[in-house]
Amino acid sequence: MNSGAMDRLDPHKLPRHLAIIMDGNGRWARKRLLNRVSGHEAGAESVREVVRCCRELGIAHLTLYAFSKENWQRPATEVNALWRLLKRFIHSELPDLIDKQIRMRHLGDPEGIPADVWTELQSAIERTASFDQLSVNLALNYGGRHEIVRAAANFARDLAAGRASVDRLTPETFSAYLYAGDIPDPDLLIRTSGECRISNFLLWQLAYTEIYFTDTLWPDFRRRQLLDALVDYQGRERRFGKTSEQVQD
Ligand code: IPE
Ligand code: IPE
Ligand code: MG
Repeated sequence: MNSGAMDRLDPHKLPRHLAIIMDGNGRWARKRLLNRVSGHEAGAESVREVVRCCRELGIAHLTLYAFSKENWQRPATEVNALWRLLKRFIHSELPDLIDKQIRMRHLGDPEGIPADVWTELQSAIERTASFDQLSVNLALNYGGRHEIVRAAANFARDLAAGRASVDRLTPETFSAYLYAGDIPDPDLLIRTSGECRISNFLLWQLAYTEIYFTDTLWPDFRRRQLLDALVDYQGRERRFGKTSEQVQD
């Protein structure tokens, strides 16, 4: 354990919502002359460790980008292996989630998720729905633009049915149409593997999120790397458009 980083961490300034683009599994595997799926398997271990650490720290929301809408374009063998792994992961983690009172939620398009994975996911969501220690939000078959367009379509439907009004449309009321409108926006986004892009993740919600890019590949991103990212986050000044003097008051 990284007691150094732990000592430098202010327990009162932790992000309420941490989002992660877990990238670099394929490169991690290639460096070891392994196939890409071995990289995803190693990445699952990082997920376990990061979930455990967030639970211990008392972070309320952890959103993990696990499968994007664009990831369907990968070779079918990899896509199939990813869904198999996700299903196995959800199944094997459920007892621990229940034990630690961790809630599982889903962000993304239900349409297209393989039926057996959907069943497993729904079961985990239902069986953890009452827990409030940490909410692990799995972004599966997720695309940010799709989420916004879907929200606009749902708003239009409510408008046509007389359940909504244009005059009352604000960023706040629009947020309620997103996948999980009740979850606060991420305070911190981490992306591993050195890529400095958003890749269609949480386009609406990241408006004022602090972003931390690290070269570490996801399977190597463990407790110590998470604590380092949190220490870095705590050194930032979040101004939300104001001046430095204003936010320091
Ligand atoms: C992230 O690792 C996992 C998913 C996108 C599902 P990658 O598979 O993208 O790994 P790289 O980017 O090829 O190294
Ligand atoms: C983003 O990683 C998606 C997930 C981590 C699930 P990608 O590896 O798919 O992103 P790009 O294609 O490099 O932008
Ligand atoms: Mg990648």
